[in-house]
Amino acid sequence: MLDQLEQKARQALDATPDSDALAAWHRHYLGKKGAATQMLRSVSALPPEERPAFGQAVNRLKRALETAFEARQAVIQRQEMEQQLASGAIDVTLSGRPTGPGHLHLTTQTLRQIYAIFAGMGFQVYEAPDVETDELNFGLLNMPPEHPARDMWDTFWIGDQVLLRTHTSPGQIRVMRERYPEPIRVILPGKCYRYEQITARAEHQFYQVEGLAVGRGIQMTDLIGTLTEFARRFYEPDRRIRIRGSYFPFTEPSIEADMDCILCNGKGCRVCKYSGWLEVCGAGMVHPVVLQNGGYDPEEWSGFAFGFGVERPAMVKYGIDDIRYFYGNDLRFSTQF
Ligand code: DAH
Repeated sequence: MLDQLEQKARQALDATPDSDALAAWHRHYLGKKGAATQMLRSVSALPPEERPAFGQAVNRLKRALETAFEARQAVIQRQEMEQQLASGAIDVTLSGRPTGPGHLHLTTQTLRQIYAIFAGMGFQVYEAPDVETDELNFGLLNMPPEHPARDMWDTFWIGDQVLLRTHTSPGQIRVMRERYPEPIRVILPGKCYRYEQITARAEHQFYQVEGLAVGRGIQMTDLIGTLTEFARRFYEPDRRIRIRGSYFPFTEPSIEADMDCILCNGKGCRVCKYSGWLEVCGAGMVHPVVLQNGGYDPEEWSGFAFGFGVERPAMVKYGIDDIRYFYGNDLRFSTQF
């Protein structure tokens, strides 16, 4: 009985013309309700002593048919591929879809505009690391452990004393320690990280550009002049800057600078929340303790510093309403700029 089945199955297999027929054959002989499986079920009709031998024989048959099936499948697949090739359905000489040459990311473009503007005012670019120590990110910036101002920065901690910088300000200490006793005029661009809820306005990673000037006789008016010049070159030549008192542990006095809204020219609109002004940056005169931590005697030296985000000015300039687009890696966004 088994021999008959095997013979029939092999003949049918050799006669299968294509992969559809092959699949049907497999269902018919080896599928759940296939002939071989049915055969196995019939074992219960046999006297108990004949059952083991019969069962083994059926299983051997199933394995043999499975092997024969695979061999036939290889033959048919090959035939079908050759047919397809012959009929030209697959043109292996056709070139792939071209990828465009690509271009710089909007953030990189914006950073380069910023570098060029500050280069025009004599600022060099100084790069500091993304992974910082607690001491540089906070302590030496006049925020010893337990200082409540640390709460202004939600921090990704890597270890007990190591973190992802929450701002570019620690670079101020690095550049001062490296350059002393030279006067300093640098910008410090780089990525910053904050353990924050991501929204249309806030990402957990973003770029900042820090500015630092240290010299003899540097004053608040130098800072205001620098920021005004920046706003005029980055946006439009008639922009205005206003300053407000603020607080940062590493500057004294501290200010915040705003620019008249570029969309409504100061009249008030949705973007400036009807105030007529857009926040530009935090800034101030470098705190004497920070100068000292950098190695500069505050009796002799003074300086100004500022720090601003990069994505937000780009959002204002290009009318982007959600910061999450920047690093969402969606080409529909990236290719627009
Ligand atoms: N580091 C500040 C922040 O991330 C920004 C800042 C404010 C930088 C005042 C400065 C400064 O250099 O003087 O919120």
